[in-house]
Amino acid sequence: PVLILDFGSQYTHLITRRIRQLSILTVCISGTSPLHAISSLNPCVIILSGGPNSVHADFAPSFPDGFLKYAEENGVPVLGICYGMQLLVQKLGGEVGIGEQHEYGKMTITVVEKESRFFSPEASRGNQTVWMSHGDEVLGLPEGFKVVARSLQGSVAAIENYSKKFYGLQYHPEVTHSPKGMESLRYFLIDVCGVHTEWNMADVLEEQIRNVKSLVGPDEHVICGLSGGVDSTVAAVLVHKAIGDRLHCLFVDNGLLRFQERERVMLNFQKELHLPVICIDASEQFLARLKGVEDPEVKRKIIGEEFIHVFEEFAPKVEEEVGRSPSFLLQGTLYPDVIESCPPPGSGRTHSHTIKSHHNVGGLPERMNLKLIEPLKLLFKDEVRKLGKFLNVPESFLKRHPFPGPGLAVRIPGDVTKGNALNILREVDEIFIQAIKDAGLYDLIWQAFAVFLPVGTVGVQGDQRTYGYPVVLRAITSEDGMTADWYHFDRNFLVDVVSKICNQVRGVNRVCVDITSKPPATVEWE
Ligand code: XMP
Repeated sequence: PVLILDFGSQYTHLITRRIRQLSILTVCISGTSPLHAISSLNPCVIILSGGPNSVHADFAPSFPDGFLKYAEENGVPVLGICYGMQLLVQKLGGEVGIGEQHEYGKMTITVVEKESRFFSPEASRGNQTVWMSHGDEVLGLPEGFKVVARSLQGSVAAIENYSKKFYGLQYHPEVTHSPKGMESLRYFLIDVCGVHTEWNMADVLEEQIRNVKSLVGPDEHVICGLSGGVDSTVAAVLVHKAIGDRLHCLFVDNGLLRFQERERVMLNFQKELHLPVICIDASEQFLARLKGVEDPEVKRKIIGEEFIHVFEEFAPKVEEEVGRSPSFLLQGTLYPDVIESCPPPGSGRTHSHTIKSHHNVGGLPERMNLKLIEPLKLLFKDEVRKLGKFLNVPESFLKRHPFPGPGLAVRIPGDVTKGNALNILREVDEIFIQAIKDAGLYDLIWQAFAVFLPVGTVGVQGDQRTYGYPVVLRAITSEDGMTADWYHFDRNFLVDVVSKICNQVRGVNRVCVDITSKPPATVEWE
């Protein structure tokens, strides 16, 4: 694969994504991984990512000793981007220091070498707009290097030592604000480094089925929680293909699902996907524990714990049925979760769980002595969708908006069991989503939903004073849920939806639209 050594840049995910979009297998590990972890992956090109540090900072993260020797001796090209380039320069004896001026944002660079490994002959001509974000810069080149491009301010923007196959870019080719960045990455990887572009979903599927078959012994059983979302569904269909009905799926109704969700999802699982799935209605037990609980984190923890309880009761049932207790838990973990759970030291990046405790069945494998199977853990969401398509998973699953594990509980601030909040929210949400579908907007929006606000508001309907509840509509666009922008609805669309909601849902007399991006808000309200 192309191997990315991560030094903590916010763009590291993006480089991985972009290169995978070129059908090149790309793997990212921490930049401070030991040399054997790097060499065991047998990389064909290594990219050193950017990062928030200065190479002069105490504890500035670096690749392991012997790394450059390994790359040189094995003829593996190394491309440093931003911090990665500065690290390369410093370790090879060049000089990195604070530049005359910081360069943040869109900048113009000029290619100063006619022949270079970054810019195809067509792209070499003239100036290019690129995205920079750095304080330090390269002030002196190591031996054997030449400057390939400079910014208009005169700072070094691209360097290479062709004979040693060491390269550096000060700017970020992976962001869309560098319009020719992708083309130059493609040219560099495919035309210059000769990387093969044969990574596709058929290979992924075949490899994962082989993996699952070799992992799960001939009479071992696997359990899996299905949420109705893309990841767990695709993971289950894949494993079902590998081991048949030794997979046992569970769908939990936690009382926090959307309008008729249980019926709809179960019908799809059984009729369309032929998955061995049972449904457990645990709504009473979840709602009983949530009664009176206001704190968002406590709510999330309770829901997580209850899921674990339901699973603990499920395993003996499987054992009763098949005469053997399950040995594996299948999870639809994706690649970003894997990277996020091991931020490199010094990166300043924290685990996303510190913002919200995302619900998953994290503690379960140890408690129940289950081994984990995670067949999607090298894939991004869009790749999982492609794999799902390849597995004939219906579009209704693949295109479904994400829905959080804690369900409607994070869309009702405070006590979710108070009054008729859950039912009101279900009705409003259904009207909103249906209107989005009718207007042909569902696939343009990353996620849309309604929020119930547990406060009284005065209205007037049919000449009568009303005292009802406000609801909030939220629709966002996003690449991966990490950042998000609000979706700009047409005025008429909003007018129609608001009127439908106020006319059809008893108890609601005011509708607001949330137009906050993430950051500063998060996607969900809790
Ligand atoms: P936030 O609210 O953190 O949401 O900006 C980002 C994305 O994650 C979803 N989300 C969750 N998904 N369990 C999940 O499986 C959770 O606990 C959870 N909380 C938020 C959210 O819907 C959005 O897509």
